[in-house]
Amino acid sequence: MAWSAEQYLKFENERTRPASDLLAQVPLGTAARVIDLGCGPGNSTELLVERFGVDAVSGLDSDRDMLDKARARLPHTRFDAADLSQWQPPADADLLYANAVLQWIPDHLALMQQWLQALRPGAVLAVQMPDNLGEPTHLLMEETGAAGPWAARFEGSRLRRAPLPQPARYLEALSPLCSRVDVWHTIYNHPMADAQAIVEWVRGTGLRPYLAAAGMEHEAAFLADYTARIDRAYPPLADGRRLLRFPRLFVVAVRA
Ligand SMILES: C[S@@+](CC[C@H](N)C(=O)[O-])C[C@H]1O[C@@H](n2cnc3c(N)ncnc32)[C@H](O)[C@@H]1O
Repeated sequence: MAWSAEQYLKFENERTRPASDLLAQVPLGTAARVIDLGCGPGNSTELLVERFGVDAVSGLDSDRDMLDKARARLPHTRFDAADLSQWQPPADADLLYANAVLQWIPDHLALMQQWLQALRPGAVLAVQMPDNLGEPTHLLMEETGAAGPWAARFEGSRLRRAPLPQPARYLEALSPLCSRVDVWHTIYNHPMADAQAIVEWVRGTGLRPYLAAAGMEHEAAFLADYTARIDRAYPPLADGRRLLRFPRLFVVAVRA
């Protein structure tokens, strides 16, 4: 399913914060080969270039619109098209960095093991994924899908991403290959202007498959119904804004 870089970048600062928090925990002073996996519009790649230099960093994504935006943003950086579920890392990579992408690949834990096996000692795999399927934003996508005149289109569909494995599973699966595995959660609390802003946020990511399933003819009504539910689920703060709670899972693994 196609992404929209423009929609994704509406909340660029908030979306780049976890990218920066992940990078802060990467235990490398220098690196000659760094690959930004699922680089999107290049916002995470830019952080990597700032830290490791333009010659060290390249980006990879499967979406044409995202790659176009990334190339326009960082014209001196190499960006390649590839599907991560079919991709193998080069043996000389120092850092594989995957911010907000592996949640879309159900079997990503096996992929992370494969990638680590291909790396040399000391190389790092750094991953961050939204862990928000239990949040109202995502529960209400399901509810809305089941409730309107579009409901037949959602019956038996599997639009929901697979839930992330528990932190212990990452530790158990990666530790035999690693000298160090760090797994943690951070819960961000983003003040959003109103309910509509929360809807705009998820339109850039998790809501896309639901809108596609509802179809163009139902899009406006689906959004109105979903927005009304979000409005009730996220009550106004004293100043009228809404607080978007957003849990994220982080993994930093160093190859033994
Ligand atoms: C939420 S964006 C993350 C962008 C950026 N890394 C950031 O930190 O904001 C997810 C990106 O992963 C890409 N993506 C999703 N599945 C992919 C796959 N199987 N292979 C390569 N890229 C994929 C999408 O095209 C999208 O650009």
